[in-house]
Amino acid sequence: MVAHLVEGHHLHEGHPDAVGEPAVHLPLDDHRVDAGTAVVDGDEPPHLHLSGSRVDVDDADVRAERVGEVGRAVDGGRVQVALDAVPADEPVDLVEALAAPIPIAVIAEMLGVVGADRAQLRRWSDAAIESTDSTSAEQAEQLGQLAGFLMGHVRSPHTDRVDLLGLLKTTPVSDRLLDEAEIMGFCLTLLVAGNETTRTLISGGAEALARHPEQRAALASDAALVPGAVEEMLRWVTPIQAFGRTAAIDTEIAGCEVPAGTFVVMLYASANRDESVFGATSDQFDVGRPVHPTHLAFGFGEHSCLGASLARLESRIFFEELLARYPRYRLHGEPSYTASTLVNGARFMPVLLSG
Ligand code: HEM
Repeated sequence: MVAHLVEGHHLHEGHPDAVGEPAVHLPLDDHRVDAGTAVVDGDEPPHLHLSGSRVDVDDADVRAERVGEVGRAVDGGRVQVALDAVPADEPVDLVEALAAPIPIAVIAEMLGVVGADRAQLRRWSDAAIESTDSTSAEQAEQLGQLAGFLMGHVRSPHTDRVDLLGLLKTTPVSDRLLDEAEIMGFCLTLLVAGNETTRTLISGGAEALARHPEQRAALASDAALVPGAVEEMLRWVTPIQAFGRTAAIDTEIAGCEVPAGTFVVMLYASANRDESVFGATSDQFDVGRPVHPTHLAFGFGEHSCLGASLARLESRIFFEELLARYPRYRLHGEPSYTASTLVNGARFMPVLLSG
């Protein structure tokens, strides 16, 4: 049902309140930036215009170089370094020690952010997700700082290093260069969209495996099963629980009339447990489940996730390395979860890696 509505262009992105009048303004130096100019908002330009950069920067040499860069950022070595730093024989918080640092390091690498700024990037990005339900003064302050930092980063002199920011600054899109606010908005979107989501997939997947030791053992003995298991983790965890659309035309959903302009919440988490799609076992975690029919964890249609391949790669490498080293890791107490209707993620997850 969710996929059918999006595919049929019955719904478009965003909330009616955000159309015309931005919902969130980020105070920034001499001008204000509309957080709603991000690629996730809108159907026609600016969304298509900005997402067109996906195509325009797709020069083969540049692509090869970028894949190499990102590959270095995500390769097993980085995960091994993270695992090396965590004690095996005493309880650790898997979120803090492993699930959080890896995605933020990858995005920071893509954007060319180095050193201590990364820890700060994570705090800001967390505040951005937490502010989706209600924005406190402190979160608004953090968002303003994040926007200010990113704008400073966008304005900093370009080095000869080929990173994503360099490409965004120098590659024409629809015959013109993107302005600073557009580039900043795109970086902000990447950071917020790619950070807590991937963290949640890693922590939620690790929790599911710990609660199903026989499946954890099967993966540990055959790494070829990991890519399929990551798809099941995506379905099972559904890091982004729901997204909103606005009805573009008068339509009907399951016998209920939906007039044009109505705000509709699409429950991806519910769609991913739909027994009419996934059968009678839809509410069971099964790493051997066929990958088709596919889940909706990355959304669907025009706005489906830009970072899906990267998230899959990061998670695959993480679970291969984790299980090779600690095939019997287990929970050491109950996790606690983030209070958010957008992201279904653990805030704290005690584990004992040695099992
Ligand atoms: C497990 C990890 C991830 C999950 C579950 C996830 C989920 C999603 C979902 C559900 C959407 C679509 C929202 C809608 O229906 O409109 C989306 C869009 C998006 N994601 Fe992800 N995402 C993940 C990782 C990433 C990463 C690593 C990046 C980039 C570094 C990223 C960048 C984006 C962007 C830019 C969009 C907007 C695309 C558009 O509107 O055209 N995501 N993601």
